[in-house]
Amino acid sequence: PSLAMGNEDVLREELGSLHGIPLYKSFVEGWPQVEAFEARADDLLIVTYPKSGTTWLSEILDMIYQDGDVEKCRRDAIFNRVPFLEMKAPKIPSGVELLEKTSSPRLVKTHLPVQLLPTSFWDKNCKVIYMARNPKDVVISYYYFYQMAKMHPDPGTLAEFLETFMAGKVAYGSWYEHVRGWWEKKNEKQLLYLFYEDMKKNPRQEVQKILQFLGKEVAEGTVEKILHHTSFQEMKKNPAANYETMPTALMDHNLSPFLRKGISGDWKNHFTVAQNERFDQHYQEHMARTNLCFQMEA
Ligand code: PPS
Repeated sequence: PSLAMGNEDVLREELGSLHGIPLYKSFVEGWPQVEAFEARADDLLIVTYPKSGTTWLSEILDMIYQDGDVEKCRRDAIFNRVPFLEMKAPKIPSGVELLEKTSSPRLVKTHLPVQLLPTSFWDKNCKVIYMARNPKDVVISYYYFYQMAKMHPDPGTLAEFLETFMAGKVAYGSWYEHVRGWWEKKNEKQLLYLFYEDMKKNPRQEVQKILQFLGKEVAEGTVEKILHHTSFQEMKKNPAANYETMPTALMDHNLSPFLRKGISGDWKNHFTVAQNERFDQHYQEHMARTNLCFQMEA
């Protein structure tokens, strides 16, 4: 509870703007430190649009870095094990401050669109893993997250939130620009582009892709341990992975748990037929000139 004290002023506040991208005002205030961030060559950057499987991928990577040692992965909450680069809130250490105290090799989480990534990550040629998720499931997950995580403005009704999302007026801006922007970087950089839906369908295969990308070899038993420990059910009951140690004033899991459903296609339980048609139309307009494809269900 003490962490929450002094944070009242960031609750349900309107978003600010960072170079045209809607973002929490406290993050905008902390931006100079983020822009000047000094990456290390062995940093591994985990990039996502919000609600696309960041925490899942982070837990998988920490398990790989700890050689499948479950106890080591319980050493701290996921948001401390994998610091959130641009995070800044009153009275708690910022992402940059946490990262400066973290020993190498570091895992770094960010939701920044490609054009805003601090240049030192490119200068140091850091490896990047991007995970994308289909926008219908993202918008539903984001809608529940707006309700439970009170640094967001009130999302209104789902119908209203769908419009806000399509217009790119949610935190981190347009999903369409985010997934396309990072997709375009994948041929020139050390970037592994993954999909939440693939991870749902065949987690073993995706973990193998990650291991190969990192140039790491692990015993088969270790892969088993990673898959078990990072399953939705295991993570949901793991206080080091489920965000329950966040102050309730900031995240109220009674409104909606952070690990909510963890499936592909939950949008079908929420969209009306008309909303789905409108969303598809908008999607096609915005994704017409890319070969990037999404599976709307698993
Ligand atoms: S955040 O706040 O942007 O970092 O959120 P993020 O972690 O990217 O996304 C949260 C959603 O990911 C789901 N999740 C999982 N799905 C499957 N398996 C595992 N292990 C897992 N861990 C987290 C989580 O439940 C959120 O999705 P929804 O659809 O809301 O359940």
